[in-house]
Amino acid sequence: MTFHLPKKVTIIEVGPRDGLQNEKAFVPTEIKKQFIAGLRTAGLKELELTSFVSPKWVPQMSDAAEIVEHCLDPDTRNFVLAPNRRGIDRVYMTDCNAVAVFVGVSNTFNQKNINKSTEESMAELKPIIKELKEKGYFVRACISTAFYCPYEGKINQASTLKLCGEFVDAGVDELSVADTIGMAVPTEAYTLFSQLKWAFPDTLLTAHFHDTRKLALSNILASLQAGIDRFDTSAGGLGGCPFAPGAAGNASTEDVVYMLERMEIQTGVDLTKLLEAIEIVRPHLSRPIDSTYYRLHAAAL
Ligand code: HMG
Ligand code: MG
Repeated sequence: MTFHLPKKVTIIEVGPRDGLQNEKAFVPTEIKKQFIAGLRTAGLKELELTSFVSPKWVPQMSDAAEIVEHCLDPDTRNFVLAPNRRGIDRVYMTDCNAVAVFVGVSNTFNQKNINKSTEESMAELKPIIKELKEKGYFVRACISTAFYCPYEGKINQASTLKLCGEFVDAGVDELSVADTIGMAVPTEAYTLFSQLKWAFPDTLLTAHFHDTRKLALSNILASLQAGIDRFDTSAGGLGGCPFAPGAAGNASTEDVVYMLERMEIQTGVDLTKLLEAIEIVRPHLSRPIDSTYYRLHAAAL
């Protein structure tokens, strides 16, 4: 097998947002701030800080404004998620300059997650994206259920490509394409990401794998082969969408960094400092950290 690999990969740390949003018990805002600071100290340069969603739907993110106010940092790219006009209006009240909008390819999932059909969400988001670009924001579009949906099953890949195309036409800088429930296998990851690379050569492409079936690392390797060099990962492998039953945590940052660095692909992330960041949030979580790197190395801290 011939490996075609980049020399460098960008890790987008989604722990403070995707990682924590599924935690039932509220993680104190001060701890979230320290966690984010620890992740930066570990070398992570792009982070999803929080989301401006309904606090009734996702109480864990109800401190979004305070997190943004305290955690913006000029040396890193700081994303906040927003699903609708109300969320964007809340973004405008902050100094944040990078926004992630999100939509599901699956209509049923989008309805459960955002209370709108995919088409209704797109109709709302397209003028918002134009407006954000005119104001100078970096815009990322997160595409959920790109492979499988917990309600509709296998997703037709033509629908995923079509939705991605609508976002590219709307002017986004980046597509983050997600295996929301961790069901894709490497052949599927390779095929979709090869098609995306071919179809959208001028757009940043990022892969977002949940690790429900422990296939995230394999899918990352397959995506690397397809030319992808940006990955969303979560410290400690935390994460999951509250409206996607069966979604386990994200690919863990430490296992991904370990694999890539051993393959001589630079990530810029210091694994010891990353474990220290995980230790900040770990006592406040409802579940144990079960990444392999953490299990093998945390005792030495
Ligand atoms: P809704 O109930 O239909 O909202 O929820 P509405 O427009 O009818 O408004 C009802 C009330 O909510 C109003 O307040 C609005 O102002 C307020 P009231 O007048 O009753 O006082 N409201 C908001 N408040 C704060 N922020 C907002 C907002 N919007 C309305 N943005 C809504 C619709 C979209 C708000 C709701 O469905 C929601 O918050 N959904 C978010 C779900 C979520 O956060 N999911 C997880 C993130 S996506 C994900 O994890 C996937 C990803 O990781 C990729 C992958 O793995 O697939 C990205
Ligand atoms: Mg996710």
